[in-house]
Amino acid sequence: MCGIVGYIGKRNSQEILLEGLKKLEYRGYDSAGVAVYTADGLQIKKAKGRIANLESKLDETPLNGSVGIGHTRWATHGKPSDVNSHPHTDNSMKFSVVHNGIIENYISLKEELTAKGHKFVSETDTEVISHLIADLYEGDILKAVQKAVKHMTGAFALGVLTEYEPDRLVAVRQASPLIIGIGEGENFIGSDIPAILEYTRNVFILNDGEMALLTRDAVELMTLEGNFISREMFHVDWDIVTAEKAGFDHFMLKEIYDQPKAYRDTMGSRISPDGLGVTLNELKITAEAIRNINRVHIVACGTAYHAGMVGKYVIEKLARIPVETDVASEYRYRSPIITKNTLVIVVSQSGETADTLAALREAKRCGAHVLAITNVVGSSVAREADDVITTWAGLEIAVASTKGYTSQLVAFYLLGLHLAQTLGTQTSDEIKEAVKALKELPAQVEEILAQAEAIKIVAEEMAKHDNLFFIGRGLDYAVAMEGSLKLKEISYIHSEAYAAGELKHGTLALIEDGVPVIALATQHELLEKTVSNIKEVKARGANVLGIAVEGELELQKSVDSTFVIPKTLDVLSPALAVIPLQLLSYYASLARGNDVDKPRNLAKSVTVE
Ligand code: F6R
Repeated sequence: MCGIVGYIGKRNSQEILLEGLKKLEYRGYDSAGVAVYTADGLQIKKAKGRIANLESKLDETPLNGSVGIGHTRWATHGKPSDVNSHPHTDNSMKFSVVHNGIIENYISLKEELTAKGHKFVSETDTEVISHLIADLYEGDILKAVQKAVKHMTGAFALGVLTEYEPDRLVAVRQASPLIIGIGEGENFIGSDIPAILEYTRNVFILNDGEMALLTRDAVELMTLEGNFISREMFHVDWDIVTAEKAGFDHFMLKEIYDQPKAYRDTMGSRISPDGLGVTLNELKITAEAIRNINRVHIVACGTAYHAGMVGKYVIEKLARIPVETDVASEYRYRSPIITKNTLVIVVSQSGETADTLAALREAKRCGAHVLAITNVVGSSVAREADDVITTWAGLEIAVASTKGYTSQLVAFYLLGLHLAQTLGTQTSDEIKEAVKALKELPAQVEEILAQAEAIKIVAEEMAKHDNLFFIGRGLDYAVAMEGSLKLKEISYIHSEAYAAGELKHGTLALIEDGVPVIALATQHELLEKTVSNIKEVKARGANVLGIAVEGELELQKSVDSTFVIPKTLDVLSPALAVIPLQLLSYYASLARGNDVDKPRNLAKSVTVE
């Protein structure tokens, strides 16, 4: 959703900006650009498409200077083009701005500025910011930015430079993420930590409504009104290698193979050493407050929402509390019934998704206890929730979430067991059995990964089709939803996920000779019913791949081919059944020649509503 980076120091900024942008490219890759203060003043270079296009331009005519800002774009206002790319400038070309977010009132601002004689060249909301700052400038860039933001509504993380004050870089955060990196004789800004991690591990995380003035030797943090703030520095202790491909062809494949470790790390010390239960020591919610919960809302977007669908089954089964799931963009507009006895669980890998954050704020406003499941320590969601369960999946770079999703499932299992322990809804033997099965999952994922070659063959065949279906019942339906999304987003094959029993109410009309159907059948109580649904599609000519638990021979007889997953408890099977589906999407995307890690039209972190 756009990435921004900035540098002020003694080194050549062009290199640092380009390296930072490469780390941020997952946030958007419609275009990229940099502005650098050079001997000839502020110079801007930008190019439509991937960062490589910008890099070629800069190879031809480099920008030499030690202060600069850069941007990688996911288009919102205005189509991807050179002119709509950031950085934007004003008519004097003395100011330069990079922006992540949306300025909601940009049309009225543009009209006001046009009336004053400003001429605009792009269709973007961001260009308005550079003109506005230029218009308000009276010799102090910090003050001009402070005045400008008072006129702006919406979401904005900004990096601002002016040729008049080449030793100052201004950064602003309002509802779009921004961090400041602290070096020696140099300082940085970035939309997230990986952008600057090669240069420093010391960061300040800005909150909404805050800004910073960076010089080479100092960083001053303040509110948008200019009141100074002191903030503890955050030391990043994870390694840059987690942001590398480690020999895999794509980040997505690496992240699929990271999953056994992600499961182990997320369980970590949360499983009691005697294996008799779980201990979520990080939770502040008391046993009494848990006993008072009368409903749970799980709110998230996309893949995280699909994890929430699994979470609903898990919590209802283990803790017997009624659970509703909502996509975050709908939640706050449907006047949900939220009381102080509602536990609202927000799920977000990045912890920065705008819709999820808005839902979290709405839930808090209504007095709910909000628990976040997130992969990013220090993210907005993590900081604003009352309680946090961190998933320890490590940095996820590929746009299609894999280990982010499965570690969310593990978090739900731990939470479900914690609630069950507190409420006494499961016997100690049942909890012990679940914990034992949970601990077996990482090795079972490894077993599945060892069969990747078999999935590759199926995927290459499926990649020849333009339509296919995923079906399943209960938890299998939740996994089918995720399998279908994954396939769509990276292979661009149209697919639909259906509750298997629902097909005959309309969609069965689409089944004809040779249509691939992926039938998930891991839920023992529902197996016979699922087999009946498989027979219905087979009778219409479908070619069915079954995802089944080992030993289910009856099911294997009713499908054309089967992928077998190891035995586990039914409630845990999503954590295994989704793995072949991730591989299927990966290999189908590869077979179609797509850019697996950066699918068209998408971005990793969706920080606009
Ligand atoms: C799909 C995918 C997205 C995200 C969604 C929410 O593979 O990754 O659907 O799950 O944009 O993102 P987070 O979890 O960061 O809130």
